[in-house]
Amino acid sequence: MSDSDRLVAAARSARDRAIAPHSGFNVGAALLTRAGAIYTGCNIENASYGLTMCAERVALLKALSEGEREFVLLAVVADTDLPTPPCGACRQLLWEYCGDIAVVLANLVTVTGRHQMRDLLPLPFDRRLL
Ligand code: THU
Repeated sequence: MSDSDRLVAAARSARDRAIAPHSGFNVGAALLTRAGAIYTGCNIENASYGLTMCAERVALLKALSEGEREFVLLAVVADTDLPTPPCGACRQLLWEYCGDIAVVLANLVTVTGRHQMRDLLPLPFDRRLL
């Protein structure tokens, strides 16, 4: 099984743990480190809607808090025919901590897209400007 296939499978499992009673839109994410570890995340909503945390950020923050710093691939899974890409807030954090990694988008049956972070967040604001 390829890294991409393993990661999509992990993101699909993570999606099953989504806590999304308000939107009903369940998302799973899985992040692969250079050393081969996988960190997963699901979206976690709150009655105060703005506090909702996306699946991608949950996976990223879990990995960072465990000391991981080098990432190679992210998978995002939602039950949609069209690809579900990371939101703007997630793109900003992913760029800062993962750089130009590949992002695989998938639904419950197939891969729907594959993109580089540099294409998902062109002209980024980042530490080079500080
Ligand atoms: N969501 C994610 O978790 N990741 C995405 O890439 C898109 C949106 C979540 C946030 C919210 O819980 C629900 O999907 C609807 O926006």
